[in-house]
Amino acid sequence: MGDDFLPIKGYDHVEFYVGNAKQAAHFYDKTFGFQPVAKRSLESGSRDTASYVMKQGNVTFVFTSAYTPDHEVTRHCALHGDGVKAMALAVPSVEAALRETKARGATVLKEATPVEDADGTVVTGEIKYAGDTVFRFVERDNYRGAFAPGFAPIAARSQADPVGLAAVDHIVTNVYIGEMDYWAKWYEDVLGFTNLLAFTDEDICTEYSALMSKVMENGTGKCKFPINEPAEGKKKSQIDEYLDYYYGPGVQHVAMNSADIYGTVTELRNRDIDFLRVPETYYDYMRERVGDVGEDWDKLQELGILVDKDDDGYLLQIFTTPVQDRPTLFFEVIERHGSRGFGIGNFKALFVSIEREQALRGNL
Ligand code: FE2
Repeated sequence: MGDDFLPIKGYDHVEFYVGNAKQAAHFYDKTFGFQPVAKRSLESGSRDTASYVMKQGNVTFVFTSAYTPDHEVTRHCALHGDGVKAMALAVPSVEAALRETKARGATVLKEATPVEDADGTVVTGEIKYAGDTVFRFVERDNYRGAFAPGFAPIAARSQADPVGLAAVDHIVTNVYIGEMDYWAKWYEDVLGFTNLLAFTDEDICTEYSALMSKVMENGTGKCKFPINEPAEGKKKSQIDEYLDYYYGPGVQHVAMNSADIYGTVTELRNRDIDFLRVPETYYDYMRERVGDVGEDWDKLQELGILVDKDDDGYLLQIFTTPVQDRPTLFFEVIERHGSRGFGIGNFKALFVSIEREQALRGNL
């Protein structure tokens, strides 16, 4: 550590494998306010998969489906349902990123592959991560097009307004019991990340279930990847439920920053996005715990936004319910005011809420 063998410029994009990319794109446009910017499909000469590139602020999501039953994307969806396939990081050199991570134990799944068109060149490469999830390295300094060669720009058309999502804050993975430390070490050894925070099952437990979490971040602090594993509890934890329904480890949630979480959540609620409900008593307790941070508590309560505070400052956050039928992937909106934390003070209140929903699904 210390020597930055893997310089990372930031998150490049997140790719989701889904059953129906066309409908997913429509959903993320009309609800979350992502703008469709580019598309790869039969029309643009892609014979096996269709992909839609959606942008908002600095967040880029790619939704991909396959045309055939035996395609890797189709098999991925059959096993896992809709979910995150690739977490893509922008790097100055894909070749160097693969070489350095491979030397430290990474399994390279895709060697550095340049693709070129009239707008320039994009290079990508991939290494294996937990379950069927991959880390993708992307080099796009020499590209001026909408997304990448093979993608046709989508002409501007009637589109829902953005809701103020500005950037990816962190991406959380769920792994099986006993695997968190393995992956934390993998981040350290292979990617050169450091352990920012660790939560034990004593920090994060309810009457029924418990989990442990470690937050890994890269040298610049730009990219943060918490890892959760279930801990022994009286009943099945929400992490166990995820693992059961995702059929393995994978991405639990993607958190995105907003500079105006009130506006973002108001708009998302108007568009019928559901959020986890916290118990009414949460606000009495938090008002006492957090004190006056200059926020409007009535407004926070009305919108169901959570607050947490640590030595560096405070944060506001909220979690959607799962965005597909399987109780797997969901999203978080977060507004940071100095705090670099993840809302540990909210975990307990939140889990009570998650467990209530889990019980409704007959999975507790
Ligand atoms: Fe989070």
